[in-house]
Amino acid sequence: MADNPMKRGLKRGLALALVLAVALGGFAAWRYFSRGGQIGGMGAEQIQLGGPFTLVDQDGKTVTEKDFAGRLMLVYFGYTFCPDVCPTELANMAAAYDLLKPEEQKQVQLVFITVDPERDTTQVLKDYVGNFGNDMVGLGGSAEQVKAAAKAYRVYYARSKETAGSSDYLMDHSGFVYLMGRDDRYRAHFRPAADPQSIADKIRALL
Ligand code: NI
Repeated sequence: MADNPMKRGLKRGLALALVLAVALGGFAAWRYFSRGGQIGGMGAEQIQLGGPFTLVDQDGKTVTEKDFAGRLMLVYFGYTFCPDVCPTELANMAAAYDLLKPEEQKQVQLVFITVDPERDTTQVLKDYVGNFGNDMVGLGGSAEQVKAAAKAYRVYYARSKETAGSSDYLMDHSGFVYLMGRDDRYRAHFRPAADPQSIADKIRALL
């Protein structure tokens, strides 16, 4: 059947709507990623993330952000029972750190914060962070302390529904690596499986 003028008009309208929808979607995605991205369309200084925390380290000592004052912090929230994602991310952080010169390393603190303080006791944390070199600190503490720290970093975590009843439960959690400035403020974050070289480059740019 040949197109009549009305049908053609309708088709053109639909095509235009489709183009607009794609353009808007693209713009929204760009805004989303540039805001959270490593360079940041918004300017990293404007992003409110991080800040004071009180946690317990792998030696049982209570620590706050002030214990790392004057250093950049590379921060990751996860849990030691995590089968693959967390170890990969922490290995990435350690690999980025290894790319730095010793005098640069002194200015950087690697921080792992557990979202599973119930299982990740001081001893478990101590054994675990040792897998990622000698310079990573493992932080846990009470459920309330961890909750407050995760909230400050806008990290989501919860017991995975499918395994919640088991003692081998898994945790759902967000998986960004955060780079914090000497002033404890957000500078950048890295998506899961970020290239260690790109992390090291970003650290260097801030030293
Ligand atoms: Ni994980």
